[in-house]
Order: sequence, then C-alpha cells, then structure tokens
Amino acid sequence: MNTLTITQPDDWHLHLRTGSILKTVVVHSARQFKRAIVMPNLNPAISSITSALNYRNEILQALPKDSTFDPLMTLYLTNQTTVDDVKQVAACEFTYAFKLYPAGATTNSDAGVSDLIKIYPILEAMQQHHVPLLIHGEVTDETCDIFDRERIFIEKHLITLVKQFPELKIVLEHLTTKEAVQFVESSPANIGATITPQHLHFNRNAMLVGGIRPHYYCLPIIKREHHRLALVKAATSGNPKFFLGTDSAPHLSHLKENCCGCAGCYSAFAAIEFYTEIFEKEQALDKLEAFASFHGADFYGLARNKTTITLEKYNWQIPNSYGADDITIIPLKANESLSWKLK
Ligand code: DOR
Ligand code: ZN
Repeated sequence: MNTLTITQPDDWHLHLRTGSILKTVVVHSARQFKRAIVMPNLNPAISSITSALNYRNEILQALPKDSTFDPLMTLYLTNQTTVDDVKQVAACEFTYAFKLYPAGATTNSDAGVSDLIKIYPILEAMQQHHVPLLIHGEVTDETCDIFDRERIFIEKHLITLVKQFPELKIVLEHLTTKEAVQFVESSPANIGATITPQHLHFNRNAMLVGGIRPHYYCLPIIKREHHRLALVKAATSGNPKFFLGTDSAPHLSHLKENCCGCAGCYSAFAAIEFYTEIFEKEQALDKLEAFASFHGADFYGLARNKTTITLEKYNWQIPNSYGADDITIIPLKANESLSWKLK
C-alpha cells in the first residue's frame, strides 16, 4: 500500500503553550488534526472559564486564516475548583473536560490537587453534569520509584475512584504500562485512554543507552520493552477504549538539554506519521482510522470528522529543529527518518 486515506484525525491530548512557541507549533497540529484537546498546564494554570476562553482566542489567532482547526479547551482541576466551575464547563460550548494533575507530578503541576478525597464533591458534580475527567495518572510520593508511579497510582487511587464514581467519564492519559492497559481493558466503557507516539515507538533504552538523550524524557517516563509491546497491542487492537493523544509537549531546547531538563517530547510536527508507521509494522493499517479518528470522538460524544487526509509511503528525514529566532524546538527522532508523509 503506497497511499492511505482516512477520516481526518483528532488529537485528544495536546500541549500548545503560548506566545512564540504556540505560533511555532500550532500550525503543525492544524495541518493534520481537525480538533485537539488542549492541556491547561500553563503558568498560571488555566483554571477558570475566562482564562480558557482567552487562551482559546490566542490559539485561534495564531492559526493561518483559512484553518478550521478547533481547539477543545480543558480546565485545570485545583484544590479551589468549585461546583459552579463544573456547571460552567458543562454549559460552555468551548470547554470539554477537567484535567487532574496530582500536585508536583509534572511540568507546571504545582497548582494540582494535593488530596483526591478533598475534591470528591467536584468529581460528583462532574459525574452529574457529564464532564469528563482527564487524569495524569502518577503518584508523587518521593519514595516511589519513577518507573512504578503509574502502576501505583492505579492501585492506590484509580481503582477506588472508578468505584466511587461509576458514571464519571475518565480518560487515563498517556498510558505507559501493561498494567494500565489491563486496567483500562477490564474497566467499564466510561473509562478510556490515550496513547502517545513516543510510548509506542520507544522503550527506555532510547533515552538511556549510549548517553542520556533528553528529548526522549517525558512523564510518565518511557518504560521497558514489554510495556511498549502491550501499548502497541492495545492501540492496534481496534478496542474503542484506546485513542490517539500525542501529549506533544514542546520545550525550548536549552531547557531540555539542561542539568535539570524538563519533561516532554515534541511530536506534533509528524504525529499521524509516527502512528501510521507503528500500525504498518503491526500489519494493522486497517485499524488506524478508528484509533486516530473515531474512538476519541465517540468517547467524548462528539461527531466524527467528515474531511479526510491522505498519507503517502515516502521516506523523509526529520529536521534537526523547528522554530526561528530565539525559538528552537528539537523534534522527536530529530535527524532520523519516517516512512510515511502527510500529502
Ligand atoms: O512529559 C510531559 N510533558 N508530561 C506531562 O505530563 C506534561 C508535559 C508538559 O507540559 O511539558
Ligand atoms: Zn500532557
């Protein structure tokens, strides 16, 4: 197969940032995706409807005039989130979910929730008003090994949460372990999950063998090969619980190539190409469209896209960097090749 046409996909987990970084990256997402769930972990966090709407306008203004890309906004769940905030999100046509970051779990998560029990009334309201909860599922306990943080979060928090709020729609974001895959598979239909390109393509050797490679460092951290294989199997299985979410998270190169480098892989420049390559290797190209373009929309209760995109089998070299002037963003797999290209 040399070309592949599928319904236009959506990205159900995306970091766009603001200012010059936003202007650099949003065009990459817009060239392939129709919609994206936009993460609210700015500094300060997007935790009110007003800030979400202002941020949405900034994103729209950064787009080319003819673009029809639709940013679906989320609010950052904090210890101060109120039931009224939940009602506003439910009523607003531009806001789609709340994002839960356990405090201290990742980039700009200081405003996150410190004790899940304290926000149970908010989760109750989200369940009642049909507002999905998007979860960064990692414990923040300093004594917990970084490679175990997702598995322990599921055991310690998520199992109880799902029982307490049986009707709440939950997306466990950026799965990284076989235990997370098993948890999602064995949960009811209101529990879904996103899977990133980096967790499908790489195991932790990519980050650590032959030297430390900071551009492969993201959170939750990339894990062992058997976890990667479980993720590939889940993504290509056709199971509607699993859908595309890049977690593309641009950082300036000097902040990643640093003695304390920040977490995040930049994949939006060729996200659909990264996924296509994995599905082809698995001989599951026939499952790509559902994973990339149907499952997420169905889970969120939104219409599927009507437009299409076409991919070509074509070997090309990923650039060394993206950006101009003082913006340098190193893409995932920089200087290496990809075997598909969006037409
Ligand atoms: O690697 C990550 N980068 N994981 C996250 O959860 C946040 C993201 C970011 O915003 O940079
Ligand atoms: Zn993210």
